[in-house]
Amino acid sequence: MGADRDARLFDPRLRADVPGPHGIPVVNNIRFWSRQLDYSRTRLAQYGDRPVVGVTGGNGSMVVVRGSEAARQVLTDNTTFEHPSNSMLGLPPGRPYSTLFDATATLNGARNVRSRKLLMPVMHRSALKEYDEVFAENFARSRFARPGEPFDLVAELDRLTNANMLTCLIGLGPQDAPLGERVTRLLHLTMDPRVFLFKRGQRTPYGRWLELVASVHQELSELIDRNRDKPPKVDALSILCHATDEDGRLMSTAEIVGELNGMLASGYLTTSASMGWALIALAGSSSVREAARGSDEYLEAVIKETQRVIPTVPMSLPRRVVSTVDIGGTDVPAGALLFLATYLEHHNADVFDRPDEFRPERWADARPTPFEFFPFGAGARRCLGAAFADLQMRTTLRQILQTGVPELLTARLKHHMVGGVVAAPKGPLLIRIAPGAAARDSSDVLTRFWNSLAVSS
Ligand code: HEM
Repeated sequence: MGADRDARLFDPRLRADVPGPHGIPVVNNIRFWSRQLDYSRTRLAQYGDRPVVGVTGGNGSMVVVRGSEAARQVLTDNTTFEHPSNSMLGLPPGRPYSTLFDATATLNGARNVRSRKLLMPVMHRSALKEYDEVFAENFARSRFARPGEPFDLVAELDRLTNANMLTCLIGLGPQDAPLGERVTRLLHLTMDPRVFLFKRGQRTPYGRWLELVASVHQELSELIDRNRDKPPKVDALSILCHATDEDGRLMSTAEIVGELNGMLASGYLTTSASMGWALIALAGSSSVREAARGSDEYLEAVIKETQRVIPTVPMSLPRRVVSTVDIGGTDVPAGALLFLATYLEHHNADVFDRPDEFRPERWADARPTPFEFFPFGAGARRCLGAAFADLQMRTTLRQILQTGVPELLTARLKHHMVGGVVAAPKGPLLIRIAPGAAARDSSDVLTRFWNSLAVSS
């Protein structure tokens, strides 16, 4: 049933008694999907007092829920609100690569619980301790460790977080970086609804996407075959290669391929973008930078504040409504694709005083609930890599501040949506690690940028 419903990403014929912007549902849905942060900021924010808002008024094909009560309802009921299956991708059945996208983030029910359990040791506190050394080695190889010369912050953070993830979580080396990049390219295409408008042909966007699916699948399968007989280690590849079910059966290569693809797709661009925003906040303002150099607590507040002001995943992952459900008095029809408005909730003036201002100091006494501040989601499907990402951000940013003084050399900051999910700094974005204490202050550049993100209601 769920799979039939998901054969299409959304059904523009679904009606719902919800407020929302005017327009043609298909057009609005595609606009929303590709520019989630701006669309929610400029077109959805004004309906903040309503629990459910349509991406188009009166239409139920894509809806956004508002307020912490609605967020709690969605995030704690994984039976009514499922992650959409992969059938909308139209992968031909029975091929080796047909299950490439079956992974923790796309599975539901018992299969999701099982794969979360399997991956847990990779993220466990005892494993995290081992990762400090890897972070230090990769940092020493990066341009952040060479004070003086300007470089592109975005490209360098992508490289660094890709290397950290490949080594720590998957057990691969720097020579495997192109694999991470290919999976990311595949993710971008997979999140682009235009690829799936016409699901046939070889020279179409869909045909080219399918070719990439097959080649990533092949590459990951070969990697698994090479690792099956190696002794167990604490990385996802090794854990998955040796994991057995209740009957003592090893996981199939297809299952492991899906999980690896999922981790590569969800792990490093999110971390790179989050770290990028925090580094921009540090490099742009001398007072923020100096306070963070002197206090780990303040550095953590800077990370949290950037996650609040510009959450890297500005809308939650989508949920499919399995059966018609009442949210705060509004009926949301079965089949609707539903999102939480993370970005708008983080700018809610009832929870955060002067929400559009960037003020790390607020975290000295701000205590939002998990349904008011949720950069990693909340509940049983909270991000599996949150602790790993947090540790990596704290460690790397501290290393940068110890190496020199990060200095922003760009006069204009912009965000863009990467892969339809991640709000990342738009590169190239020049930065320099100044060796001495003196570095320019770009507070005006930063303030302009924070203002450009203000919620218009
Ligand atoms: C700062 C970096 C990161 C951010 C901001 C982030 C954010 C998120 C968000 C918002 C969700 C969806 C929550 C929902 O809609 O319910 C999610 C899910 C997920 N994330 Fe992350 N993530 C980050 C890093 C990572 C890393 C490093 C990994 C490790 C590979 C990872 C693996 C996952 C997985 C497997 C899921 C799906 C969980 C499930 O559905 O059960 N993430 N993440």
